Amino acid sequence: MAFIHLDIRCLYTLLLCTAFGSTLSSNAEIKVNPPQDFEIVDPGYLGYLYLQWQPPLSLDNFKECTVEYELKYRNIGSASWKTIITKNLHYKDGFDLNKGVEAKIHTLLLGQCTNGSEVQSSWSEATYWISPQGNLETKIQDMDCVYYNWQHLLCFWKPGMCVHSDTNYNLFYWYEGLDHVLQCADYIKANGKNIGCMFPYLESSDCKDFYICVNGSSESQVIRPSYFIFQLQNIVKPLPPDYLSLTVKNSEEINLKWSIPKGPIPAKCFIYEIEFTEDDTAWVVWILRLFEKIMNIAF
Ligand SMILES: *[C@@H]1O[C@H](CO)[C@@H](O)[C@H](O)[C@H]1NC(C)=O
Ligand SMILES: *[C@@H]1O[C@H](CO)[C@@H](O)[C@H](O)[C@H]1NC(C)=O
Repeated sequence: MAFIHLDIRCLYTLLLCTAFGSTLSSNAEIKVNPPQDFEIVDPGYLGYLYLQWQPPLSLDNFKECTVEYELKYRNIGSASWKTIITKNLHYKDGFDLNKGVEAKIHTLLLGQCTNGSEVQSSWSEATYWISPQGNLETKIQDMDCVYYNWQHLLCFWKPGMCVHSDTNYNLFYWYEGLDHVLQCADYIKANGKNIGCMFPYLESSDCKDFYICVNGSSESQVIRPSYFIFQLQNIVKPLPPDYLSLTVKNSEEINLKWSIPKGPIPAKCFIYEIEFTEDDTAWVVWILRLFEKIMNIAF
């Protein structure tokens, strides 16, 4: 009797499996593995990270198919993921290292072997986080960087809120094109402590992410590093016009002329702002934004 019971159970199982299998479309039988060895590698460029992976196992079964990878990544806490579809086995991008980084990737199969529809693998995931050292209050404050006249980069900072008097900070920077991270060579100091940096000429640095880390040291406490990313062309402060002439044409008309600031910024990039008072007692200030470097004011 016992044997018969068992047989029936087996039969049920078999029937169930067959029924379940046949309700799925044939595409569900095509399964592709996720990429292998997915990892986030920090080459030490202060935020520029490498995301890399190896092809999935058993890829030989899909010779007639296109294999692509869909990569999603973000700084932990960001609302949205960046999505990249690639056939390569690596991708590089800049991240804010003050926060963690998370990424996931899956394999996409497309083509004849899937009968035209897209097959996706499960996700492989990776995270990266520079384990936070030191208290948050030891970080520098109010970092301010300006690229004067598209020529001279200057950064200033204030020390952390709660630091011992022996604390000193150091600035490191990197952008694509530099072989390795460089330390500031010309610090601006106050009471013997670094509070800013004057950068040297930064060759071919425009329109690239510019990475900065300000860390520090102290005998008595660990100092939390701060990371920054910006693009130099976005923090340019131009010089004032070189020369301004004012000619009174008649009692009702004044002619203003000025020349463009000297330096590498093309003339077409400037607009000008003019403020003037009609007479000393009235203090009427007009602010005009102009593209021309000549102007007639009629009263
Ligand atoms: C492939 O697609 C065609 C057209 O949609 C369909 O008739 C055929 O049954 C599919 N073959 C498989 C193996 O799914
Ligand atoms: C500061 O950062 C630079 C660049 O990453 C690193 O070489 C250096 O060891 C760091 N210094 C401290 C005190 O953490």
